Amino acid sequence: MDRIVIRGGAALSGRLPISGAKNAALTLLPCALLTDQPLTLGNLPRLADVDGFGHLLNGMGVSTATAGTSPDAFGRTITLDARRISSTTAPYDFVRKMRASILVLGPLIARMGEATVSLPGGCAIGNRPIDLHLKALEQLGAEIEITAGYVKATAPDGGLRGGRITFPIVSVGATENALMAASLASGETVIDNAAREPEIVDLCRCLVAMGSEIEGIGTERLVVHGQPRLGGADYKVMPDRIEAGSYACAAAITGGELELVGADIDDMGAILAALSETGLDVAATADGIRVAANGRLRPLTLSTAPYPAFPTDMQAQFMAMLALADGASVLTETIFENRYMHVPELSRMGADIQVHGRTAVVRGVDKLVGADVMATDLRASMSLVLAGLAAEGETRVHRVYHLDRGYERLEEKLSAVGAQIEREADG
Ligand code: UD1
Repeated sequence: MDRIVIRGGAALSGRLPISGAKNAALTLLPCALLTDQPLTLGNLPRLADVDGFGHLLNGMGVSTATAGTSPDAFGRTITLDARRISSTTAPYDFVRKMRASILVLGPLIARMGEATVSLPGGCAIGNRPIDLHLKALEQLGAEIEITAGYVKATAPDGGLRGGRITFPIVSVGATENALMAASLASGETVIDNAAREPEIVDLCRCLVAMGSEIEGIGTERLVVHGQPRLGGADYKVMPDRIEAGSYACAAAITGGELELVGADIDDMGAILAALSETGLDVAATADGIRVAANGRLRPLTLSTAPYPAFPTDMQAQFMAMLALADGASVLTETIFENRYMHVPELSRMGADIQVHGRTAVVRGVDKLVGADVMATDLRASMSLVLAGLAAEGETRVHRVYHLDRGYERLEEKLSAVGAQIEREADG
């Protein structure tokens, strides 16, 4: 297994390209199952999770053809063809490694009348149940049975029918499954307390391009007019706001300046507002967003919550950055119950962090010191990379596969803007 080795201290500077959004890609790929026509997705990030999702779909009989993009280019275009679906099962091995596999459930039951998907089980950042996904599909007439670790969903005769779905809490994945299923259900579906994340908007736009009719896009009430058939489309994945936010933190923590090329300022309100509050200069440019450090970082009080509030997927990266701020910050995690696993690793690098339940108090220190560190999830890994970029000496981040799930060619992007970072084979 590889590790990332970083010699800290270099202020980053230059232009850094932002890839297509992982979380948008993972909900756009299963849309291919909704139609017998080809779906072409452009700007798909080259990530382990995107490959994994492709393999899951291949196992269902979906063909995937990658267009001739050069291996040096970021992103790629894939045409998916689900003319014939040979299996409606998402096996344990896929779902265990990639929770987003659950997103085949809605499209499969809507098009094929049945789906069998392994239960995802626990994961590093908490229990993460799928009850809301299942209840939403039941509202559209699905019958759900759970046996031997699998969810078996069956549509009534005549297929799914429109219904009313009111989510008790906001769920990105459950909203996505509901939207995909409702797009092929007969009649109208009203989804209340829907997630409003930009990735949901991206999904809605793709579904509309495929022939679905959706009102209220970007709001908490979505009305879907289901269609008997959906067609193919040619759709480009939105830029990754979490990747862009992570690299903005890299500029901040190293006292540098970056232009995040391709980032969309409109999707990043809460992230950029928090960065400005720490003292970073943030401005839109013709090509993206420019962020520039401006003296020592100021501390923050932040709470994660569904969009448009501050995202849980940025909490770990902000914690690394605030470990070097001029004073005490208070971070509260309201989405996942176990998302502070980076804290002991950051502490080993000299950070002063105390966790009390869902709240972490981060007292800024003058310096961090490089160390061997190990991460348990994707965003936690990035927080350790950020800490390493600013730390004195060498940091070795182990378990790089987490980073490969969500950051396209991280060490290449960072070294191009002045970081001393490389990948080594773990001995
Ligand atoms: C998605 C993102 C993930 C992000 C999260 C929150 C993808 C592939 N992943 O995950 O990066 O951190 O949104 O922005 O897009 N819940 C239930 N029952 C359910 C579903 C969810 O109780 O059936 C709970 C979860 O445990 C969590 C909360 O709802 O506490 C929000 O989770 P959700 O929005 O569903 O996250 P994901 O879609 O899994």
